[in-house]
Amino acid sequence: MAIAMASTASVSGVGLLVRDCAAADVDLLEHALPTGGTAAHAALFARQLGGDATYLTAWQDGAPVGSGLIRWAGHRNPDSRAALSDCPEISNLHVAPAAQGRGVGTALIAEAEARITHRGFTRVSIGVGEDNPRAQDLYARLGYHDTGLREVSRYDYPGADGVLREVVEHDILLIKGLRPA
Ligand SMILES: CC(C)(COP(=O)(O)OP(=O)(O)OC[C@H]1O[C@@H](n2cnc3c(N)ncnc32)[C@H](O)[C@@H]1OP(=O)(O)O)[C@@H](O)C(=O)NCCC(=O)NCCS
Repeated sequence: MAIAMASTASVSGVGLLVRDCAAADVDLLEHALPTGGTAAHAALFARQLGGDATYLTAWQDGAPVGSGLIRWAGHRNPDSRAALSDCPEISNLHVAPAAQGRGVGTALIAEAEARITHRGFTRVSIGVGEDNPRAQDLYARLGYHDTGLREVSRYDYPGADGVLREVVEHDILLIKGLRPA
């Protein structure tokens, strides 16, 4: 059985807690970071229960402000997974719009990297949309660089109007070397 872990970080002088998702968090996450009826938080939590992922959640003043998944077996795309062996992937990184730009994403990535290093891996990957230059800037600042690999992912996601639409994302695969613990 997985052991829940947590760490605290200071964000803009306000305490931020980053910890594993728990069953009781799923409804709170859906409220704070709505997924338009896709039950995405429940699905990601189920992956954690299955042992192949860790679903990290970030909390400020007792409310969830962000989340992100560590996929321990590597990339979800088989070609990318084959090209990047022994390399867990950080995915599904999402910070509530009102909390963006205050270090929550950085804290989630830092916690994910610490967990990945703790398990003995020496590198981590992340996919970022070709049309998401701000996230690209963030990852570059955190030491991620372009692998040269590209992939297309398709998933349903609600727009600002709450209506589910298929999103086709063209991703740049980034990688970062981690110092052994
Ligand atoms: C990308 C994201 C996870 C970053 O989390 P965050 O908590 O806003 O990031 P931090 O506060 O730690 O770092 C801020 C940096 O993130 C980047 N960033 C990306 N999108 C941003 C946004 N909407 N608001 C603020 N910063 C954003 C910028 O590089 C920013 O630095 P800057 O202020 O100098 O431009 C978050 O903005 C988000 O959820 N965006 C929408 C979903 C998404 O794009 N997910 C990433 C998929 S790969």
